[in-house]
Amino acid sequence: MDRDTARERIRELKAQIERHNYEYYVLDSPRIPDAAFDALMRELKGLEDQFADLVTSDSPTQRVGGTPVGGFTTVQHRLPMLSLSNMFSEEDVTLFDARVRRALARDEPVEYLTEVKMDGLAISLRYEKGLMVEASTRGDGTTGEDVTTNVRTVRSIPMNLASVGNRIPQLVEIRGEMVMFRRDFELLNASRAVSGDPLFANPRNAAAGTLRQLDPRVTASRPLHIVAYALGETSEDLILPTQKSVLEWIAGVGFRVSPFVRLVRTPAAMWEATREILAARSSLPFAADGIVFKVNDMALQRVLGQTAKEPRWASAWKFPPEEKETRLEDIIVSIGRTGVATPVAVLTPVEIDGSVVARATLHNEDEVKRLGILIGDTVTVRKAGSVIPEILGPVPSARTGIERPFIMPAACPVCGSQLVRIEDEAATRCVNASCPAQVRQRLLHWCSKDAMDIQGLGEAVVDQLVAAGEAHDVADLYQLTEEQLLRLERMGPLVARKLLLHLEESKSRGLARVLYAVGVPQVGQVAARDLAHAFGSMQSMASATSESLTHVYGIGDRTAENITAFFREEHNRRLIERLQTAGVSMENPAATGAHGPLAGRVFVFTGELSAMPRSKAQELVRTLGAETSETISRKVTTLVTGSAAGSKMTKARQLGIEILDEQQFLSLVGQGT
Ligand code: IVH
Repeated sequence: MDRDTARERIRELKAQIERHNYEYYVLDSPRIPDAAFDALMRELKGLEDQFADLVTSDSPTQRVGGTPVGGFTTVQHRLPMLSLSNMFSEEDVTLFDARVRRALARDEPVEYLTEVKMDGLAISLRYEKGLMVEASTRGDGTTGEDVTTNVRTVRSIPMNLASVGNRIPQLVEIRGEMVMFRRDFELLNASRAVSGDPLFANPRNAAAGTLRQLDPRVTASRPLHIVAYALGETSEDLILPTQKSVLEWIAGVGFRVSPFVRLVRTPAAMWEATREILAARSSLPFAADGIVFKVNDMALQRVLGQTAKEPRWASAWKFPPEEKETRLEDIIVSIGRTGVATPVAVLTPVEIDGSVVARATLHNEDEVKRLGILIGDTVTVRKAGSVIPEILGPVPSARTGIERPFIMPAACPVCGSQLVRIEDEAATRCVNASCPAQVRQRLLHWCSKDAMDIQGLGEAVVDQLVAAGEAHDVADLYQLTEEQLLRLERMGPLVARKLLLHLEESKSRGLARVLYAVGVPQVGQVAARDLAHAFGSMQSMASATSESLTHVYGIGDRTAENITAFFREEHNRRLIERLQTAGVSMENPAATGAHGPLAGRVFVFTGELSAMPRSKAQELVRTLGAETSETISRKVTTLVTGSAAGSKMTKARQLGIEILDEQQFLSLVGQGT
């Protein structure tokens, strides 16, 4: 084939393939079988291999994701990406309408367009002459991250607006929400459970984690979708009179747009729309967290304008946290790493706020009493902080008389040893340190991401190792051979070798992680790091007195006692020894991230951050190469202030230290939304 013919055929193929992508991913109605689609892709790939200079960025062959990147560069939004004011009650809705009409000096009704408020991650897509040139996250609204490479892998995002639409402007920014469909989210978590990867708490986290992946191939392997709802910057050849026509135009160039589009004109009709969307909420394919009302007329929108962060012409009514009734089938007792026996509610699975809930922790015996729930009860459940399932109480009217109270068993359900309730404590414990349940939890904790971070050693493998008697403690993991591993289910030579490699790598994680991973009571990640820093080696820690331990910032008498008690125990000493013999490093490694983007900076955090606990934020900056301090001094370069920041702020000002609020901090570390 000559070049010109090839060029023409490539153009045709690209258009056809993108059209099929649109039909498959946006309209949900493919018109050709997968095999025919694959044939088109193969033909295109073949031609592009032959004529490499004819490969363009909008080719569907470029959607597979390139090589991993070290980080994301930032993008300045020319038009800020705003957020929305929130409404929670019928009165709020009435007040919003009143405010709008007052600002417009109008007695007659104003027309609003309703849309679903999707619960995902805001994104802006820039198209020049129809071609997608840049995709960026919202960040703090003014500065976002460039996620173009990842976005290219999302099949429901057109790379070229002309493949579906006509009337393509010189420039347009399309804004929308990146979401993961609930069914895809369930599948993703199910497969992560099998591979031992940590589960995503909800579809929003899954979508955010996927979009902010440094390896675009991972993004490509996970199903993301976009639901568009607005335009950002546009050239003058695209003038649309209403929000409704905006959505129609966006749909016309190949996007899925926000569903539930209605025009309403009175507070009563607005409220009715909230009822309707609320009822339809669980039938939407993606997670939604409310309904948005937007003044439909663009000219009126311009008159109303915006405040610093929010448009005055739009507002969102937020769904109340969903509460569902389901049956409490049983209360089982789960044994933790330290032997604590926790009652866990087994529920008839029920979908709440976008994911299925089948279990809920009941914390302890007293909590079960306080709630007044009986096994067999119908109970009300919701998700606390929209993540952790929580039982609110029984529905007494649904009782039939066969319900029975929960009694904490006298013996451990796993090993049969005695369960003892410690005086003055709410907790009940299994006294047998070799209880397989405790062993299992200790192994899982040792392998977890924050501890020794051993990939591939998830529940599936650990359960088998414990059952087969191959691992009684964490030191046994380092004695595992390929042969032993191959006896496990679903374990091939390749996976086994990889696992051994990960185990080998984990030996050099350093003292802080080992300290946290062996599970000294009350020694969390922060204490472990501070201790490692102060003592430098396991040996000097093991011989430290309680008194010298309390000299470490943040270590109180009780923790110090726990630490010395831990090292007095013969079997703990032996365990440490065996780990050391196996080659697990018990020294403080050279500072990690010394060449990270924040190298040379010293951070202090004050007040509470809403996005993450302080310890997490400290660890984050440390992994990026910075140091952290608890107190303000001249060597501190940056103070990050959460809510209720106090005297540190004054001191930092006096010393002329850079002060960042939470938003600025999050965008600095690339976690802004
Ligand atoms: S409009 C000009 N419409 O909600 C106003 N936002 O709290 C900009 N969102 O960051 C937002 N669905 O990510 C709008 N139908 C919808 C939406 C929506 C979800 C998100 C968006 C934004 C946040 C604002």
